[in-house]
Amino acid sequence: MTSVKQEYEDYLALAETAGEDVSISNVIFDENSNHSQPRPSHDLGIDAIYTVQHQFGLGWLVSLIKKEPEAFPHRGEPGKFTCIDVGSQIEFVANMATFTNFVIVDPSLNLPEEGVSLPDLGIALNAKEGQDLSFLESSSMCVISSFHAIEHFGLGRYGDTLDPTGDVSAMREFNRVLVNGGFFMGSVPITLSGYERVEFNKQRVYSVKRIQEMLRDAGFDVVKSVCAVSTELIQKTLKNYGGHREFTFPASVVTPQDYEDSMRQFVDTDGDIFIEKNGAGHAAYIFLAQKQSATTSPDIDELNSHMAF
Ligand SMILES: C[S@@+](CC[C@H](N)C(=O)[O-])C[C@H]1O[C@@H](n2cnc3c(N)ncnc32)[C@H](O)[C@@H]1O
Repeated sequence: MTSVKQEYEDYLALAETAGEDVSISNVIFDENSNHSQPRPSHDLGIDAIYTVQHQFGLGWLVSLIKKEPEAFPHRGEPGKFTCIDVGSQIEFVANMATFTNFVIVDPSLNLPEEGVSLPDLGIALNAKEGQDLSFLESSSMCVISSFHAIEHFGLGRYGDTLDPTGDVSAMREFNRVLVNGGFFMGSVPITLSGYERVEFNKQRVYSVKRIQEMLRDAGFDVVKSVCAVSTELIQKTLKNYGGHREFTFPASVVTPQDYEDSMRQFVDTDGDIFIEKNGAGHAAYIFLAQKQSATTSPDIDELNSHMAF
């Protein structure tokens, strides 16, 4: 491959020939320059599951804000928050903060005890754990988002405190800080019912049934849910483990029932789900759940008519 230095010389020669058509004539050489590596074949550069969960999350957030704009302060009202994201991909939350201010909570952040506030971005950051949001009052938040996060809580992978009940405790804590009728949106990795497991210290893998029970026990009603399936990842794993084999998934976003039905084709004669042998996450349950309320009965039909998805 031609060296970057040689390409620089070639570029200068070409630029001289091009004369006045060159937009910028001042060309300096960056000593750190290198060629970027091409992506491996069949790497589309898209994590299908993360993309889908963020699209649903953002769609739901915007729908909720449209329905009740006065409940969602924005950058014009610095320091006011009714939304929190726990276990965060900060760029994604910063994008959500285009529409309303967000508190970001993640123990992997290295911050002073009181956290850091970035009012110009509509975000505040806190290095806390989802199981203990004691810096927030009860019934003070309208929305909590936590995508692909609670499966990690308490496993220590991210420097968080070991806690075998970390996922359950966090859900109860989310319920405490939400207002009655407030929303918890999130996602977790899933497998077939009966194959739930803790892959220590990577993650917990739930079934749809198990996570739905946990949400209910923590005081939530599921309002919307889908399963996102990485068909690209499945195809790749099939090549590695089972040879190239036809499989049928109706689509990459499927109903929980279609997910259960379709996954059965991957159970081999030993009862193993062979596409999961490399521990790769192939699917996620993505949900919008609402805090059950004894006093207000949520008007789900009315809410659904405002939902983008
Ligand atoms: C897979 S990443 C989350 C991805 C992100 N939510 C998104 O939407 O793309 C898991 C995150 O959970 C955080 N985490 C781990 N234990 C936690 C805990 N006990 N409380 C809050 N966050 C935690 C990790 O630091 C990490 O940032």
